[in-house]
Amino acid sequence: MKVAIIGAGNLGLAIAKGILHSNGATTMYLTKRNTKSIQEFEKYGNVTVTSDNQEAVKNSDILIFAVQPGHFTTILEQTKDLLTEKHVIISTITGFRIPRIEEIIGSDKYIIRSMPNTAISVGKSMTCICSNELGKKRIDLAKAIFNRMGHTLEIPEEQMQAATVICASGIAFWMRLIRATTQGAIQLGFDAKEAQELAMHTCNGAASLLIESGSHPEEEIDRVTTPKGCTIEGLNEMEHQGLSSSLIKGIVSSYEKISHIRKA
Ligand SMILES: NC(=O)c1ccc[n+]([C@@H]2O[C@H](COP(=O)([O-])OP(=O)(O)OC[C@H]3O[C@@H](n4cnc5c(N)ncnc54)[C@H](OP(=O)(O)O)[C@@H]3O)[C@@H](O)[C@H]2O)c1
Repeated sequence: MKVAIIGAGNLGLAIAKGILHSNGATTMYLTKRNTKSIQEFEKYGNVTVTSDNQEAVKNSDILIFAVQPGHFTTILEQTKDLLTEKHVIISTITGFRIPRIEEIIGSDKYIIRSMPNTAISVGKSMTCICSNELGKKRIDLAKAIFNRMGHTLEIPEEQMQAATVICASGIAFWMRLIRATTQGAIQLGFDAKEAQELAMHTCNGAASLLIESGSHPEEEIDRVTTPKGCTIEGLNEMEHQGLSSSLIKGIVSSYEKISHIRKA
């Protein structure tokens, strides 16, 4: 696989590391305008660091674009004449819709749109992907790339904004829940470091239980709630205070905001 990451910033480098650490590329081009900060990547023998996007496109098959939205159109314009039937274009650019990409480079290209989250830097991203009509032929390839860095789900493009809220903003929502648990643990007598350790590993364990068993959260809750016991006492108090309701309302507010931003 000959891969180019166009825009090797936070996300681009996280993707590059995920691919390199799993030996997923025969060659890799990493591009940005100021390459000094990423020069060290050339220590991987198969990596070329350059500010020349055209060189990267010419010498690669899979093009992963990870620039800021404001730079994307110009870069596509500068490279579109170099695109051939070998190229698969994977965009990570938030809010940049596939029809807009097709307008610039044509619909006769394999175009994939992806929405990873920041956990990609530790190989645990929940990444949603969709494609144009032709891109459906390469969607398994894109899934295979992102599965190296977590879990991937194919969705219709219309759900991309909702996925952004649940998966990208979702990282912040879960962080707040972990922090709140940490604060509770401190109040119960653990020091701050231990409290966070308890909170984050319990969170990790809870998610892993569901992922590995395929069970429903309520089944797992039933396993730990003794009748008249302390867990149900705590859970019901949290619900009286609006735990589920506030999470759902927060998610819907985020979605309304992202929808409003898109229309603006
Ligand atoms: N971070 C996330 O978790 C996340 C999640 C999902 C989607 N996204 C999307 O991913 C994109 C990148 O986000 P980010 O956080 O990684 O941004 P970032 O750190 O700012 O990275 C963007 C990179 O693009 C480079 N760049 C700018 N102009 C360029 C050009 N003409 N040619 C080549 N490279 C160029 C910049 O470096 P120079 O200035 O040196 O050129 C910079 O390193 C955004 O569109 C964002 O919406 C991010």
